[in-house]
Amino acid sequence: MSEKKIYIVGAGPGDEKLITVKGKELLEQADLVIYAGSLVNPKVLEYTKGECIDSYGLTLDETTQLTVDAVNAGKFVVRLHSGDPALYGSIVEQTEELKKFGITAERVPGVSSVFAVAAALETQFTLNNVSDSLIITRPAGTTLEQDQIPEFSEMGCTMAIFLGTQKIEEIMEKVRCPRDTPVAVVFHASWPNQEVIRGTVDDIAQKVKEAGIKRSAMIIIGDVVDPKNYAKSYLYGVKQGPLD
Ligand SMILES: C[S@@+](CC[C@H](N)C(=O)[O-])C[C@H]1O[C@@H](n2cnc3c(N)ncnc32)[C@H](O)[C@@H]1O
Repeated sequence: MSEKKIYIVGAGPGDEKLITVKGKELLEQADLVIYAGSLVNPKVLEYTKGECIDSYGLTLDETTQLTVDAVNAGKFVVRLHSGDPALYGSIVEQTEELKKFGITAERVPGVSSVFAVAAALETQFTLNNVSDSLIITRPAGTTLEQDQIPEFSEMGCTMAIFLGTQKIEEIMEKVRCPRDTPVAVVFHASWPNQEVIRGTVDDIAQKVKEAGIKRSAMIIIGDVVDPKNYAKSYLYGVKQGPLD
């Protein structure tokens, strides 16, 4: 008997060309694609001739059943997640359920929206003399009782806040970095309607409100948003040390 297997594929941040070659090839072969809602650009779905089902509003049991029925019918199934499936996805619980039915899932990474956001801002998240670390986090909400945003914001690191646009006012009230720290909100990074709003801890919430952005955006906090006093990299210079 042949192995029962599906693929969990990262669709990338939006631009249909930012999926991996492997991801695109798997979509071309798929009979069924179960994709994760509005953050998967419909243009990515054009790579498949298979049936496409939006998992938005479906329970874990329902998506599991759809997958199991399709695999048992001999179909090639792709679960397509926005960005990279390892960030704010639910793939561990999905694969655990599928295992109960003898189905394995191979993961194919994708370009996370966090990197499309850096590209939109024309910056780096790590920059000599400015920030050596990136914190990826989300605000408290239905699935998280208490967040660590106040503590993280004291560390002088770049912060990328997913799933937070609707709570931007609360977030800016609780951060403990200086009020003039640069902040950017990027809506639909890499999509044709990408929007970048720049400000500071003090005024970004008002600017985002005025722009009418409520979701599908990321908040970046830190001096890398407006890089000034950075030190040049020694990568190409005479002072080059070991690259580790
Ligand atoms: C459920 S998470 C999925 C993240 C995804 N796995 C990734 O790696 O990008 C959804 C959140 O990701 C962020 N997001 C996803 N796509 C985005 C994009 N193109 N531009 C800006 N933020 C995006 C938003 O913060 C959104 O609320």
